Amino acid sequence: MKLLITGGAGFIGSNFVRYMINKYPSYQIVNLDALTYAGNLETLKDLEMNKNYKFLKGDITDRTLINKLFENEKFDYVVNFAAESHVDRSITEPNIFVATNIQGTQVLLDASKDNNIKKYLQVSTDEVYGTLGEEGYFSETTSLAPNSPYSASKAGADMLVRSYNETFGLPINITRCSNNYGPYHFPEKLIPLMVINAMKEKNLPVYGDGLNIRDWLHVEDHCQAIDLVLHKGRNGEVYNVGGNNERTNIEIVKTILNYLNKSESLIRFVTDRPGHDRRYAIDATKLREELGWEPKYTFETGIKETIKWYQDNQQWWENIISGNYQEYFEKQYGLRLEV
Ligand code: NAD
Ligand code: DAU
Repeated sequence: MKLLITGGAGFIGSNFVRYMINKYPSYQIVNLDALTYAGNLETLKDLEMNKNYKFLKGDITDRTLINKLFENEKFDYVVNFAAESHVDRSITEPNIFVATNIQGTQVLLDASKDNNIKKYLQVSTDEVYGTLGEEGYFSETTSLAPNSPYSASKAGADMLVRSYNETFGLPINITRCSNNYGPYHFPEKLIPLMVINAMKEKNLPVYGDGLNIRDWLHVEDHCQAIDLVLHKGRNGEVYNVGGNNERTNIEIVKTILNYLNKSESLIRFVTDRPGHDRRYAIDATKLREELGWEPKYTFETGIKETIKWYQDNQQWWENIISGNYQEYFEKQYGLRLEV
């Protein structure tokens, strides 16, 4: 089996690369990533020598490069993680979200269709469903109602993926996941940002009243879900992935401060995010009942392990904060591995 993983130098993609290499030692895995600010090859240092793994630097919007890659490599499966992923950045710079998340997806879909791949899996998000009030859950049949340029671009990509299945018969699945947490999470996102600021005794900026709710899922449980959908998901289907761990942001922040034994006086309520979705909550019954998915982590265990990971891996995030991580690729490889 030959698998293309795009965006595999980011948070979830790198966890998925590691998960697949360990679980399927006979699979050949190609990781294609443009190494934007969110891509970090230091994360994958331990896998560099693995003979069934190859990293290639490349942009999914580059049609010539993608076509050449697909012709050369003859992939069986494609799992697309590559995306601009941060909501706040989509508010200040929406163009790049449309380019990567929508146009990049279309380039991958065309190459997948033209090369008869066995399955294309699109890693999407619960944010395409918009926001919930105090009650209810997102199911796979909930209407799409995205509220940020990020979620609108992910919804646009989902619609393209669906259309390539209906129109061209490309075998596809879409997964829609709630908020992930765990190792190698880029420190612009809530949990790593708060852990690092708390460790450094810097202020913790909480948007609005801090009562927005997210449904937290450990990244390893997400990887297991993608593995199941890739191998067993019914053609054309969408699967929601969520951990039933609804927490307000302020609860998350206080849990982190408490675990690190730091004062709540570090909390600062700041101006709210425009278009800030109030609550996400996923109904993952379809994934559990059809494919037998069960998350391994409780939130209590997962968050403790994650905070400890940030304590034990200070160099990893210090290199991000200082910008040194971006020099790693050039130093180690030059341009030798470019497609
Ligand atoms: P991330 O920002 O950490 O990583 C994204 C990766 O994609 C980076 O390595 C980046 O270099 C790469 N990339 C960006 N543009 C590219 C391009 N044009 N060509 C090739 N590579 C490019 O993101 P993440 O949090 O790991 O999210 C991965 C996927 O999962 C995204 O599609 C995101 O929408 C989705 N998702 C994330 C979460 C979450 O909680 N983080 C939840 C649900 C869904
Ligand atoms: O739901 C899945 C989505 O989860 C993914 O599709 C996105 O790629 C991922 O970034 C994440 O989006 P969120 O906007 O929910 O994540 P973020 O970590 O940016 O914010 C989580 C919550 O915390 C949100 O309500 C905003 C709030 N927040 C965030 C930051 C960075 C703060 O209060 N302060 C902050 O400094």
